Amino acid sequence: MTYPNLTLTLDRGELLCQGNYVDGAWRPGRAGCRYPVVNPADGQAFAEVPDSDETDARDAADSAARAFEGWRARSARERAALLKRWHALILANKEDLARLISREQGKPLAEARGEVLYGASYVEWFAEEAVRAYGDIIPEPVRGRKLMVVKEPAGVVAAITPWNFPLAMMARKIAPALAAGCTVVAKPAEDTPLTALALVRLAHEAGIPPGVLNIVTASRGHTPAVVGAWLEDTRVRKITFTGSTAVGKGLARDSAATLKKLSLELGGNAPFIVFDDADLEDAVEGLMAAKFRNGGQTCVSPNRVYVQDGVYARFAELLTARVSALAVGPATDPASQIGPMINRRALDKIAAHVADAVEKGAELLCGGRQPAGRDSPASTYYAPTVLAGASHDMLLAREETFGPVVALFRFATEDEVVAAANDTPFGLAAYFYARDISRVWRVAERLETGIVGINEGALAAESAPFGGVKESGYGREGSRYGLEDYMHTKYLCLGGLKQ
Ligand code: SIN
Repeated sequence: MTYPNLTLTLDRGELLCQGNYVDGAWRPGRAGCRYPVVNPADGQAFAEVPDSDETDARDAADSAARAFEGWRARSARERAALLKRWHALILANKEDLARLISREQGKPLAEARGEVLYGASYVEWFAEEAVRAYGDIIPEPVRGRKLMVVKEPAGVVAAITPWNFPLAMMARKIAPALAAGCTVVAKPAEDTPLTALALVRLAHEAGIPPGVLNIVTASRGHTPAVVGAWLEDTRVRKITFTGSTAVGKGLARDSAATLKKLSLELGGNAPFIVFDDADLEDAVEGLMAAKFRNGGQTCVSPNRVYVQDGVYARFAELLTARVSALAVGPATDPASQIGPMINRRALDKIAAHVADAVEKGAELLCGGRQPAGRDSPASTYYAPTVLAGASHDMLLAREETFGPVVALFRFATEDEVVAAANDTPFGLAAYFYARDISRVWRVAERLETGIVGINEGALAAESAPFGGVKESGYGREGSRYGLEDYMHTKYLCLGGLKQ
């Protein structure tokens, strides 16, 4: 099917890829099924990709398994050089990649450009780390033996990525896998396959050999068949997944039969705490950066904002002025700061959280509806919202809202707020603003999360470990820890050495 109303213009039209990439070649799904890719701004389909099934997933795994020995045998320098070439091509095609991200995911173009640079930074970082996968020499316990530790690639890796950062999450998984010497089968989120396909095309152009990186696309309905084929395949040794806690638990359960290595970056419910001694302007700035990135559709977005009694009213006032000035509009409008939500399901969940909060006594300081003029039935925009007087019996205190909604909770003491912040099964990120240095250490230690932002709202960096504790998952992405997640530790004992 062709899409006559396709208004997406790319400098390089061939970056709009609409097939699976397996064993170095573009191909349709074996069963010939396809599904449409939709612009979240207007609900219109503008492209279509294969709706793959288990046979396509097996083809991809066959290809990755065949390529593994050759790829791991390459020197780390060779793998690094190919990753650097891929990095350069991502930067050279930044504008087209940003257009694809915006079109299928909805984030404003300026933010999409930022995502391209963010994703590229992981490719560069892991190109540089590939040559630093050091082992160890252990002092021998008895003479005549040498004890050594070497790092080896885990094997074939299945990478399953979310829709909210279609380029960065793919890059953050593929780059360390390839750097470590693993080969990859990937499946992007149903809503946002095109960015991932373009990224893989650039990897092909960079000279990543056939079979080393494979990608298949699938609708929500076919995803269990694709992922199921990889789960039961003993040659797939690792699964790396970013997405919901429910799906992550399913992967942990279903991969138990073949005991795969797992990295799970799952849901969050991040607390953001403002103490009386905080710099309030800085705290508002930090919250705006952390909360409204990607319209709040980010795992590390603050979901519960706790403000201490003495600064509550002033903070609410400063924040509401900033939030109500945010411009909502399509990704193509340079003035837009908040794009559409990814789909109707997402919008309905946000609206339900706000309605539940208001019903239970929260006060709406701004937003709380679809913006005027952007509220047609096909539209998924939601006005940036601030709610005061939130409480723990509200849905938004327990579940990730994943949208542009700030809920303010009032608190009195440090003990009380730390207990409230930790009162969740999730443990991805937490933020707090305070100036008392003893409090800074105390609170940083007591928060039960994998990431803590102290007087800072923008946390992610390619050189820092990203990941959670509790039901937010395990494993780390980015940083030197992110490379280790794709490697096994092998102990070599060399004996019989004569003196
Ligand atoms: C995510 O939302 O899963 C990733 C966010 C980030 O990389 O900062």
